[in-house]
Amino acid sequence: MQTELIRIDRTRMDREVMERAGALLRGGSLVAFPTETVYGLGANALDEEAAKKIYAAKGRPSDNPLIVHIAELEALEGIAAQIPKEAWMLAEAFWPGPLTMIFHKKDRVPWGTTGGLATVAVRMPSDEIAGELIRQGGGYIAAPSANVSGRPSPTTAEHVYEDMKGRIPLILDGGPVPIGLESTIVDLTEDCPVILRPGYITLSMIQEVIRETKVDRGLIQEDSFIRPKAPGMKYRHYAPRAQLTIVEGEAGPVIAYINEQARGTGKVGIICTEETKDCYPLGDVKCIGSRQDERSIASHLFQVLREFDGDDVDRIYSESFDTPGLGQAIMNRLLKAAGHHKIHV
Ligand code: TXA
Ligand code: MG
Repeated sequence: MQTELIRIDRTRMDREVMERAGALLRGGSLVAFPTETVYGLGANALDEEAAKKIYAAKGRPSDNPLIVHIAELEALEGIAAQIPKEAWMLAEAFWPGPLTMIFHKKDRVPWGTTGGLATVAVRMPSDEIAGELIRQGGGYIAAPSANVSGRPSPTTAEHVYEDMKGRIPLILDGGPVPIGLESTIVDLTEDCPVILRPGYITLSMIQEVIRETKVDRGLIQEDSFIRPKAPGMKYRHYAPRAQLTIVEGEAGPVIAYINEQARGTGKVGIICTEETKDCYPLGDVKCIGSRQDERSIASHLFQVLREFDGDDVDRIYSESFDTPGLGQAIMNRLLKAAGHHKIHV
């Protein structure tokens, strides 16, 4: 299959291209598109055969459910049952935007879209290209991140092309995404809302809107045997080919430890920040952003992990990024990339 990559200007969207992309979706094909979080791999969420193509293109386990993307608030009631008042409050505060909510599903949502679960994940992205594509594609677009399963999520159309070339007909290129981490997932099917995946919308932002919110215990206790409730959170994800180790501690000892590793045998990759990048004389040093701007760290994380695959390093060491707001989401992704391999110095 030929994969077309078409650049879209957000301020003057090419109607002909957007209509063609919508027609592909309505016809049961896959189209990759930008969102504010990461690029998505879209299919008609109400067409079970189309949803199955997503699993095939990504090599994704079939028990891992998809998020259904909508463009209008009215569309929510078309697929979700028993919508609690907290959901409307969160939608009012954060939609369109990087928040996914889980509800009991209505019958028209196929089991193939929800990985066999009786619940459905729903998100309204803020990216204009995504919004227009969802409307043109029939209003309900299932979209996981547009990477091959296990690879870092794509934050540029080129990343999508690397992974999906020959597997899908069309990629809409909207340039690099602004956030770079997948949406926050909140489960609204229990008595108390529960965060299943940390993201750009933090626990405290949610608690400002609805007082009572918990974090899934399967996420907090990393060594526990409690299974995370979002099936996708149990897989090793985002993994670069070389073993990644996270080094925690005060800046001085962390830098000393990583430099000691870089002096050893083999090619060593280093993930650091603007503040420390000049402290590493050896190794393949990549600056992920500035500690003064945690959003810069979030938006470059997946890009940096992908770059190391091209660089052929033997081992990678990363500083730890426990920044106040996005730190939880950043460290959740980094720990998964490391297979929870971290040391404290
Ligand atoms: O930001 C995002 O959410 C991106 C963009 C493209 O919108 N999408 C995304 O999709 O990250 P994906 O498939 O890579 O991750 C979806 C996560 C998985 O961990 C999955 O297990 C969980 O959502 N999930 C989906 N439906 C669920 C449900 N009904 N119950 C629990 N977890 C669910
Ligand atoms: Mg994903």
